[in-house]
Amino acid sequence: MERPLIVVNFKTYASASATEAERLLQAMEQAAGDTATMVAVASAFDLAVLANQSTNVEVWSQHLDPVGLGGYTGWLEPQTALTRGAKGSLINHAEHKVDLDHVRSLLSMLPDGFPVCACAADVEEAKALAELNPTFIAVEPPELIGGDISVTTADPAIVSDTVAAVKAVNPSVRVLCGAGVKNGMDVAKALELGAEGVLLASGVTKAKDVHAVLADLVASL
Ligand code: G3P
Repeated sequence: MERPLIVVNFKTYASASATEAERLLQAMEQAAGDTATMVAVASAFDLAVLANQSTNVEVWSQHLDPVGLGGYTGWLEPQTALTRGAKGSLINHAEHKVDLDHVRSLLSMLPDGFPVCACAADVEEAKALAELNPTFIAVEPPELIGGDISVTTADPAIVSDTVAAVKAVNPSVRVLCGAGVKNGMDVAKALELGAEGVLLASGVTKAKDVHAVLADLVASL
């Protein structure tokens, strides 16, 4: 089994944007041991700067659009993201939904092996996305995002059911879970439920002691 993933979505939190994003990346680098793959999901503005820092943390984009180089004002064009150091991307996050065609087209234009994590609100959406063969699917019930109760406590069945459903459709897709994840116990529970890692944001970006939270997230691995 590959190393579990701790994927921290910086969103547009002030504590994870511009120079604060650089600081957070360094904190992640310090917490990253060899038991987990740490991923920083940066804004498009911060991605190149973070990707240029020499760390073991993978820097991913929060979103990409299936467009080429040319007349696409304001879109997030994949080739430039790769050139600037993106090592993966989220797509279809609950805060940036797209249709299945968007995901399908995007996957078809990315190089083999470039990790894409498609987010799903529920088991049905996860199944539909699994047909498209993304690297990861992250199940995140939207109502729990940004809240205090981890999906692994509030709705453990959605995690285990998503793992089962996704593997039935496409065994090569790896499943993550997220929403409300805050600590190492939540990570341990996620793995127990069959997920291969977690996707989280506010547990880190709003933490009083970011270093302590990051250390705790990997403590049980
Ligand atoms: O992308 C991660 C996210 O949507 C979960 O957010 O704040 O509940 O960890 P949060």
